Amino acid sequence: MAEIKSGEGEMRRKLSYGGSIPLLGLGTFTYDERDSLDAVAMKAIKIGYRHFDTASLYGSEEAIGKAIKKAIENETVKREDIFVTTKLWCNEHHDPLSALNASLKRLGLDYVDSYLIHWPVKLKPWASYMVPKEDDFDEMDLETTWNHMEKCVELGLTKTIGVSNFSSKKLLHLLDFASLPPAINQVEMHVMWRQRKLREVCSSRNVHLTAYSPLGSPWNPYGLKNLLKDPIVNSIASKHEATPAQVALSWILSMGGSAVVKSFNESRLEENMASFGLKLDEQDLQEIDKLEEKKMATGEFLINATTGQYKNIQELWDGEI
Ligand SMILES: NC(=O)c1ccc[n+]([C@@H]2O[C@H](COP(=O)([O-])OP(=O)(O)OC[C@H]3O[C@@H](n4cnc5c(N)ncnc54)[C@H](OP(=O)(O)O)[C@@H]3O)[C@@H](O)[C@H]2O)c1
Repeated sequence: MAEIKSGEGEMRRKLSYGGSIPLLGLGTFTYDERDSLDAVAMKAIKIGYRHFDTASLYGSEEAIGKAIKKAIENETVKREDIFVTTKLWCNEHHDPLSALNASLKRLGLDYVDSYLIHWPVKLKPWASYMVPKEDDFDEMDLETTWNHMEKCVELGLTKTIGVSNFSSKKLLHLLDFASLPPAINQVEMHVMWRQRKLREVCSSRNVHLTAYSPLGSPWNPYGLKNLLKDPIVNSIASKHEATPAQVALSWILSMGGSAVVKSFNESRLEENMASFGLKLDEQDLQEIDKLEEKKMATGEFLINATTGQYKNIQELWDGEI
């Protein structure tokens, strides 16, 4: 397989407005590796990563901002080369403008490239943690939240706005009333959760799909441990003299999406960036279509049968699970 040298791997896709998104981004969600994050981000920039995926929930905004600042100061990159995504956590729906300003302060930036509603769920302002308690749930009014998101673009605080974990139905509902449409929907997508319906909806409405957990999140207790070990994925990898992770990432690029993949290991950062050198053929894609599908991130923690807006998983995903 063709090797890609540092800095050569960057490829982008044009968004419906607000510029273009690099097709491979660095995921920054971790529970226990936060101390090494700014050094990892510096390495990633050297290797050619230009998209950094963070969120107010992740606790990674400061480290990412620090690395970007250093890379701009030492003239490795210019601000406009870098694409920063951050996200509105569920307890921030009541005031997205203040939430984005707080994220920008932590990042040390004047603007981000993409600001996403992290989940279609609203929590009370005090519930800044990941797993809400029964009293933390609130009723989301998507039109009001989106209105505030649009203001963030008008004020120049973000180039684009978008959503994350939105089903086709929720995305189409948003597109019905949005003055400024979502440029991106970031969702779980990988060879074992292929999102056929959502891909069709996004493509027909010019909403870019970004795949999170593109390797099935093997580090997570609830992640898919078998994706990188799957015999079909491994046989396609052997055929192209590539690695299973490169097959998984290349499949996302073949579907027209971008991916945010987490690795804090230098050789795996390089390996993942080299996925651009792998082109899957029609037979590979047909083989991948045979894999059994399994959703990893069900969002169960955001369901509450008594106080939640969604009483069960089917309601959260509108049956698309
Ligand atoms: N919007 C949302 O709701 C949402 C939800 C989940 C995730 N995300 C975003 O998506 C990013 C990635 O998701 P994720 O961390 O859940 O899953 P992932 O990227 O599928 O998997 C990351 C895991 O795979 C390992 N890995 C990376 N490259 C590898 C390779 N080439 N070979 C073998 N193992 C490899 C990493 O270990 P090493 O670090 O040791 O390499 C890490 O344990 C997150 O960091 C976050 O930014 C968004």
